[in-house]
Amino acid sequence: MSYKNVLSKNQNGITTITINRPKKLNALNRETIQELHDAFNEADADSNSKVIIITGSGEKAFVAGADISEFAHFDVKEGAKLAAKGQKLLFDFIENLTTPVIAAINGFALGGGLELAMACHFRVASTNARMGLPETSLGVIPGYGGTQRLPQLVGKGRAMEMIMTAGMIDANQALSYGLVNHIVSQEELLPRCETIAEKIMKNSSVAIGKAIKAINANYKEGKDGYKTEIKQFGKCFGTEDFIEGTTAFLEKRKADFPGR
Ligand code: COA
Repeated sequence: MSYKNVLSKNQNGITTITINRPKKLNALNRETIQELHDAFNEADADSNSKVIIITGSGEKAFVAGADISEFAHFDVKEGAKLAAKGQKLLFDFIENLTTPVIAAINGFALGGGLELAMACHFRVASTNARMGLPETSLGVIPGYGGTQRLPQLVGKGRAMEMIMTAGMIDANQALSYGLVNHIVSQEELLPRCETIAEKIMKNSSVAIGKAIKAINANYKEGKDGYKTEIKQFGKCFGTEDFIEGTTAFLEKRKADFPGR
């Protein structure tokens, strides 16, 4: 499928999704959120797509936030609807995908941009990246899960300070906070993400999908993560990947996982 504001290409098992509105610093308007949903959905359904990398086009921004021009005139009802729809369509959707998703943060990741990166399974930043949740400077609070995922990733006190000050942190601070896993030069950003993706692809995609479910259960209200882990662990024993993985080990050869 082709999109207006999103590019998607699959190469050697890795789907790279690029948000492509560089003149607006890749700000997320309604159309882009829908297209991203469709692109992620398409990649997740494709058995040749083992890892998804998401990044922003241009050298300046990953995503500079939700498109302010679209919601500046909204009332209470419309505001709540905007938050609920985006959360369901894109942010929760990405978090719950069983295909691993890496955010390659290539510049500003602000508001909805940082929220998008935080919905991904983990993050790698370039040295020029700047991250923040500036929503309180606009008279609103972070939406799309921002008030929930930021404290999960960096701790409550740091999240409180970032949200109250509406300030930006640089890549080094984000690394020390545990918000990103690695920092590399801008040129090295996608190659580094691809190297990590290649390591992931050597393992069982079926087991990885179940591990994502178990890890996410720890952060879901009303879910007992330990119970989810037991269930997903047990399910692995009924998969071809498990037979191949354990047989390959015992036969002292590399596993060749059939996958999903
Ligand atoms: N929504 C809509 N448009 C946005 C945007 C957003 N979140 N962020 C940037 N843009 C647009 C600008 O309006 C500008 O468009 P124009 O050229 O038609 O006027 C274009 O992108 C370039 O941005 P500009 O502000 O000129 O770049 P800059 O280098 O001076 O500043 C930022 C960069 C990121 C500091 C600044 O764009 C900014 O503060 N953006 C908003 C961040 C924010 O509050 N995000 C949270 C939204 S909930």
